[in-house]
Amino acid sequence: MRSTLLISLKSPFSGHRLCFPAAAAATKLLLLLLFAHETLASSPPSDYLSFSFPSFGPDNRGNFTFPTTDSRDSQGALQITPDTANDDSFFLNKSGRVLLSRRFRLWKDPSSGNRKRTASFNTTFFINIFKPNGSLIPGEGLSFLISPDDGAPPPGSSGGYLGLTNSTIDGHSSNQIVAVEFDTVKQSYDPDDNHVGLNINSIVSNKTASLSLFGIQLLPPNPANYTVWIDYDGGAGQFIVHMALQGKPKPLTPVLEARLNLSDYVNQDSYFGFAASTGAADYQLNCVLAWNLTVENLDEKGGGNLWKILVGIAAGVVVIALAVGLLLFWHSKERRKKMKRRMAALDPSVLTGTLKSLPGMPKEFEYKDLRRATNGFEEKMKLGQGGFGIVYKGVFADDGTQVAVKKFSREDNMNSQDDFLKELTVINRLRHKHLVSLLGWCHENGVLLLVYDYMPNGSLDQHLYRTGSAVRPLLPWNRRVQVAADVASALHYLHHEYNECVVHRDLKSSNVMLDAAFRGRLGDFGLARVIDIDKTSYAELEAAGVPGTLGYIAPECFHTARATRESDVFAFGALLLELVCGRRPRCSTLPGFNFLVDWVWMLHREGTITEAVDEKLGGDYAADEAFRLLMLGLACSHPVPGERPKAAGIIQILLGTLPPPVVPPFKPGFMWPAAETSGEYEAGGVGLTSMSTLLLNSSLNYSSSTLPWTPRIVSNVGQDDV
Ligand SMILES: *[C@@H]1O[C@H](CO)[C@@H](O)[C@H](O)[C@H]1NC(C)=O
Ligand SMILES: *[C@@H]1O[C@H](CO)[C@@H](O)[C@H](O)[C@H]1NC(C)=O
Ligand SMILES: *[C@@H]1O[C@H](CO)[C@@H](O)[C@H](O)[C@H]1NC(C)=O
Ligand SMILES: *[C@@H]1O[C@H](CO)[C@@H](O)[C@H](O)[C@H]1NC(C)=O
Ligand SMILES: *[C@@H]1O[C@H](CO)[C@@H](O)[C@H](O)[C@H]1NC(C)=O
Ligand SMILES: *[C@@H]1O[C@H](CO)[C@@H](O)[C@H](O)[C@H]1NC(C)=O
Ligand SMILES: *[C@@H]1O[C@H](CO)[C@@H](O)[C@H](O)[C@H]1NC(C)=O
Ligand SMILES: *[C@@H]1O[C@H](CO)[C@@H](O)[C@H](O)[C@H]1NC(C)=O
Ligand SMILES: *[C@@H]1O[C@H](CO)[C@@H](O)[C@H](O)[C@H]1NC(C)=O
Repeated sequence: MRSTLLISLKSPFSGHRLCFPAAAAATKLLLLLLFAHETLASSPPSDYLSFSFPSFGPDNRGNFTFPTTDSRDSQGALQITPDTANDDSFFLNKSGRVLLSRRFRLWKDPSSGNRKRTASFNTTFFINIFKPNGSLIPGEGLSFLISPDDGAPPPGSSGGYLGLTNSTIDGHSSNQIVAVEFDTVKQSYDPDDNHVGLNINSIVSNKTASLSLFGIQLLPPNPANYTVWIDYDGGAGQFIVHMALQGKPKPLTPVLEARLNLSDYVNQDSYFGFAASTGAADYQLNCVLAWNLTVENLDEKGGGNLWKILVGIAAGVVVIALAVGLLLFWHSKERRKKMKRRMAALDPSVLTGTLKSLPGMPKEFEYKDLRRATNGFEEKMKLGQGGFGIVYKGVFADDGTQVAVKKFSREDNMNSQDDFLKELTVINRLRHKHLVSLLGWCHENGVLLLVYDYMPNGSLDQHLYRTGSAVRPLLPWNRRVQVAADVASALHYLHHEYNECVVHRDLKSSNVMLDAAFRGRLGDFGLARVIDIDKTSYAELEAAGVPGTLGYIAPECFHTARATRESDVFAFGALLLELVCGRRPRCSTLPGFNFLVDWVWMLHREGTITEAVDEKLGGDYAADEAFRLLMLGLACSHPVPGERPKAAGIIQILLGTLPPPVVPPFKPGFMWPAAETSGEYEAGGVGLTSMSTLLLNSSLNYSSSTLPWTPRIVSNVGQDDV
């Protein structure tokens, strides 16, 4: 039912953002109706086979096949690879499988005129991947498996083959396997060493997603159990995987979803189970702690519910028609309004008129002057490139004044003008000594340009990492502390001092510029938005994805797709850690950690947090300040938005007038919905708003990404947007 609905939603919305209150309200209404509909129509499944194993042992041993002695049940769990031994070598180079010793009919040939039918199934299981004391490097992975037989894993399927295939047979359609892998080792074709993937006949996943983006670590420093939900809708060909810490409810956002016509790949009669492997030098324990499985039964006929189903469908059709009608009504109204606004923005004379009428609008430059100042936008003059434009250095011949010129680069003119107007209306009114100032603008022949103060010392990242074309001196300790305070004061201005609250939305080291005195100045308001002071968040579905840069994006943004003061503070926390540690927030050089914050948190737990301080400083730093900044950085990185400090508190902690925050030894878990208590989200809209976001995204970009929103990853080269 639901999938039909998603598809029917597609046409009215495709290509349009839903960011108007009326449309949002309509969506909520639709969702309410949808829930009502689901309740009405959810007749008990006619014909299902259900299995429930709360633990594993002698009582249910007979329900499983353990094809080799390397797999067994022990300590209440299925141990897919060995779990006890006296010597380490016993653990190495292993692959194992455990399957339910019962076959399931997974598809049915069409009887006259009908389509081929594919069985739906739902499964939930608890996994625990554990690095025993003796294992220096963990590896390799565990997977949920649909297999044509319940026999042993193929020979040579240890290591990267995860007990699924081997170098000879990998990728062959005769394997007839479909698996969901939970992989702790990065191969060349994997995104990282902490990912989930959908595998069809091959160890190279058809679709993968880094679990780090969801705050999940398959192998956390302290053992954790995870719940995995896999739901397959055979009618719609929709395959969805959810994952959360054991005990937490099923999250709204899946870690993976894919279109999959199972009947194209698996044997008509197949087995369900698990496979896993260890490597030549790395091993881990791959345990399944409990398992529920429900499979649609295609063997027998369940006609008894036909009437109920028909009533359900009828009710569904009526509700859908009503809802879509309502939605279209609202939508077309909003669209007309929006089109009108857009048309106005498109007309160059109207645009220029708008610009000129902006209060306090700075100087209008002539295009030919800017072209001359930048040597015709010469490559050599390029300072950096961001999501919305390229930044060039400009020098005016007459008086030698240096400026930074941002040329809006989107091909799509309409978007450029929209971006341009958005940026202008925000930045035009902001004045603060730690914000990069706007000097003027130019709009000629459809080319949009903004002129800013030139920052002779480039961006902060150039001084921390000293890569790229401009080799900058290493930023000494006292300047780092100063820059942190400068950015905090700019943030406080944006969030609290200006008469409307502005969220920056893309705070990162390449957007922090250093002026001649090496003082920090916040730049790039391309993503900044004014939000009403009464509301604490700004809701918008970006067609392009979650704005921001990976490592600086607060976890809740993956669920809400909206920026708040709290998500800016999260990014500020990432920036603080970056300043002190001299490492990027998303960091590949720390063994076992994908994010700097997790490494720092581990050091904090072990009481050695100052080991995190940038080694390039050669010990030349103040330990108490470093401690204060690191603790503050961790506090700002709290997964729960309401727990993060506010800009005013941040300034006081940086000044030392407030003591450093108390930070728990373990990073608290991220829970969704997380912030109900902090009052950050629209009243009454928590579940529904995020749910609508989810639904709309699944219907719009169904196959485009594993995340419902693809973060915009901006390269960190050079002066990345002024
Ligand atoms: C395990 O197998 C036994 C014997 O076939 C059966 O009675 C029992 O229901 C099975 N247990 C589960 C949870 O399916
Ligand atoms: C799956 O494939 C079979 C034949 O290959 C086809 O009959 C069926 O309609 C497909 N199902 C979906 C949902 O595409
Ligand atoms: C799977 O779960 C969904 C809802 O979560 C339900 O509608 C569906 O009937 C279930 N399918 C099976 C095979 O249990
Ligand atoms: C299996 O289902 C039972 C009953 O609904 C539930 O209590 C249990 O937590 C489930 N186990 C798993 C692994 O989901
Ligand atoms: C692992 O090592 C720790 C201390 O190094 C010890 O306390 C613990 O008992 C060991 N665990 C196992 C399973 O050997
Ligand atoms: C892979 O498995 C097949 C049988 O499943 C076997 O014939 C072949 O020898 C194996 N290849 C390697 C490299 O072990
Ligand atoms: C995805 O699955 C299809 C179907 O088996 C296969 O042909 C294709 O090569 C796979 N793609 C990747 C990237 O593995
Ligand atoms: C994981 O599950 C096992 C078995 O149910 C339990 O003994 C253990 O305490 C759990 N571990 C955590 C960290 O929850
Ligand atoms: C594991 O396999 C590797 C390479 O295949 C081999 O060099 C190593 O000796 C094996 N180790 C053990 C303990 O079998």
